[in-house]
Amino acid sequence: MSASSPVSFSRSQRVVHWLTAALVFFNLLLPDGMNEWNRAMRRTGSANPEQIASANLHAYVGIAILVLVVLRLVLRLAQGVPPAPPQEPVIFKHLSKIAVSTFYFLLVAMPLSGAAAYYLGYEGLGGIHADFLKIILWIVLAGHVIAALAHQFYWKTNVLRRMTAG
Ligand code: HEM
Repeated sequence: MSASSPVSFSRSQRVVHWLTAALVFFNLLLPDGMNEWNRAMRRTGSANPEQIASANLHAYVGIAILVLVVLRLVLRLAQGVPPAPPQEPVIFKHLSKIAVSTFYFLLVAMPLSGAAAYYLGYEGLGGIHADFLKIILWIVLAGHVIAALAHQFYWKTNVLRRMTAG
């Protein structure tokens, strides 16, 4: 078994994957604290300690995602990833490669644009973060979940299993 074609994802790759997923959903579904801080700063130029605390939570979760993505890239380079299963049509193999690169791009671009807005005051990047990148992330995530379900129930491959039980 060479490092470039293992039969499954390693335990560390699986832990990092699900931890990243949980943190991404947290920030996507519960951004209200950060939004409130943002609104308060725009309206009055200041925010109360509660607003700052929940904005910080969003920021720290986002920074943790960035760290996990870097770790994930290192693991990918060191351990490789299992090949696409033969049952998957070629067009979907290409699409999944595009989706993986888009994920890596978004999970770096989201934290960096958010940090530029939060810590350095770049409002334009905050807009790109909150409007444009967020929507692309939702679209790629939806495609990713649909693809996982198609693998499990339609093509009946072991793709979901190799990212869960291994
Ligand atoms: C992958 C990581 C992240 C995700 C998924 C994410 C997600 C989101 C979402 C869903 C919103 C609300 C958009 C809306 O509906 O209006 C938002 C807003 C915001 N986030 Fe993040 N975020 C991430 C990382 C970060 C980080 C690391 C920071 C700061 C260090 C940050 C700072 C902000 C700011 C300042 C806003 C308000 C931007 C504006 O409305 O102009 N985010 N984020």
